Amino acid sequence: MLKPQQTISRLRLSCDGLWNIKIDRENVGDVNGWSAGFAPDADVAVPGSWNEQLAEIGVMNYIGVAWYQTRVFVPTAFEGKRIVLRIGSADFSARVWINGKFLGSHEFGFLPFEFEVTNHVAVGKSALVVVRVSNELTDDTVPQGVTAEHYIAENRVRDETFPPARFDFFPYGGIHRSVELYATPKEYIDDIDVQTNILSASDGLVRAKIQLTCLDGATVGFRLEGDEQNWTQEANVENGVAEASIAVNPCQFWSCEHPQLYLLTIQLRRDGELIDEYQLNVGIREVKVEGAKLLLNGKPVFLKGFGKHEDFPVLGKALSLPLLVKDFGLLRWINANSFRTSHYPYAEEVLDYADRKGILIIDEVADISRDFRYTSPKSLENHKAYLRELIARDKNHPCVIAWSLSNEPNYLAEQEYHDGRGDAYWKELAQHARALDETRPITIPNLQRATINDPAFNYCDFISINRYYGWYENPGQMDVAGKRLSEELDAIYEKYQKPILVSEFGADTVAGLHSTTDQLFTEEYQVKFLETYCAVIASKPYTIGEHVWNFADFRTPQHHRRVVMNLKGVFTRTREPKRAAFFLKEHWAKSPVKSSVNGEATMLAGAFEK
Ligand code: GCU
Repeated sequence: MLKPQQTISRLRLSCDGLWNIKIDRENVGDVNGWSAGFAPDADVAVPGSWNEQLAEIGVMNYIGVAWYQTRVFVPTAFEGKRIVLRIGSADFSARVWINGKFLGSHEFGFLPFEFEVTNHVAVGKSALVVVRVSNELTDDTVPQGVTAEHYIAENRVRDETFPPARFDFFPYGGIHRSVELYATPKEYIDDIDVQTNILSASDGLVRAKIQLTCLDGATVGFRLEGDEQNWTQEANVENGVAEASIAVNPCQFWSCEHPQLYLLTIQLRRDGELIDEYQLNVGIREVKVEGAKLLLNGKPVFLKGFGKHEDFPVLGKALSLPLLVKDFGLLRWINANSFRTSHYPYAEEVLDYADRKGILIIDEVADISRDFRYTSPKSLENHKAYLRELIARDKNHPCVIAWSLSNEPNYLAEQEYHDGRGDAYWKELAQHARALDETRPITIPNLQRATINDPAFNYCDFISINRYYGWYENPGQMDVAGKRLSEELDAIYEKYQKPILVSEFGADTVAGLHSTTDQLFTEEYQVKFLETYCAVIASKPYTIGEHVWNFADFRTPQHHRRVVMNLKGVFTRTREPKRAAFFLKEHWAKSPVKSSVNGEATMLAGAFEK
């Protein structure tokens, strides 16, 4: 599914803005025919979460169904074209109608979906778009849901959150990314698959495979340009596919220091006449795990960064371009070179920007704290489908260096995870991931409770661990915490001989709280916490990075251990720095000097482009 683009043959029209919303607490919208229009309860901004935006009409903690509607004028310029309605994301599931005609549904949050509407709209007229959005989750959805009944049945009522959620971020509902109507020619470029290789210090290779919907006898023109050079090729379309392999010399490889992008222009032609055109940024780079190292373009790289969230006051989980620019400015300021899209795929605009800015991304499926007592073959089927959609959307981004298949499975340490079910689940899912993309490593961040015998470790290319010694365990005792982390890292490396990323570590910190002694929630304790972990990580030859939890404070479901938010950010929710931000800025300016496997000190790649 290609992102909409305005080109010589394509048009796009934004449907963002103020829509109508109707809250459907009783789930009567279907029987009442709201799919053909309804009397609204309120206006709602799209993109935007309904929660904080409309808290005053009682939906701050609302889990349920809400109906959205808007009218969009179909321009006459769309005459004779294929017209498509695309929704950037609707969390966590949606059904869509246009002019009362049912188009289809989508069951996965945080990912785009689209429907062709050519036969359901009239150019030069307005069309009624209705979207039924639900943020309800079940045992089989991705992510997995939880209800108040689960807490009672499992005798853990004190774990209950409001709204109930199996994850530690607020379950915002709404249309969180842009909605567009776009037009392409009737014969069109359907999908592009780009793979890049490094052949030598100055030779790169770009292999492009194009899926097309067109009649026979067409050709595809390929033009790659950048760095004042360009390469062209022509290929015939056979069975809807055209391929090219372009050798690039001299080649500027994509890296954090030098995020060189080449522009690939694809043209569908017949008898020399242009039918359709699509353009894509390409970064020529290679990622792989080798021994105890993560290699980018053949050079060891050390990941310095964060787990993040798409979260901001009032917006909730909506895409915000000012916030995008701000956050990348702060990543540069703090000398970070990477982040994980914890715990779900972020907006495509974020990945486009990371391609341009040379930020490395671990792209994560929205699967969190999976409980294997409630995991069925249907769950695995959904998980695989989710992964397929994610890889289809993000496969061509040079910034994406790894796939994270899930976060912290076995959160409740249920035995069912260790009786073979976990192993079989990850085995199948990892095979699926590699079949979809053999060019990127995979990982599954583990939590301590799943132990060193976490079956997920067997199928990861590099190991990711989330650890909170000094916070949830050994509170206030960083000496004990550092020792436990060091011993556990050695034990895990000993057992699996795979490089390790410490993918989460952090301490809740109230900005402005200080102490002369080790005191939880103070800025000083956060600094000491991070300092201790960074020192242990740097002391290990097999660690490939440190991702602090979290980049910024974020809203969580209500719970007695959360003061409205998770306060482990090194920036506040509104992006003010805490003391820890200055510690990291200095620490990451000195790109980690690591004792390599043979003990020699090595300076690692991955420093920010100055
Ligand atoms: C977990 C989890 C995060 C959570 C964090 C915390 O490791 O992955 O989503 O926010 O711990 O408790 O702060």
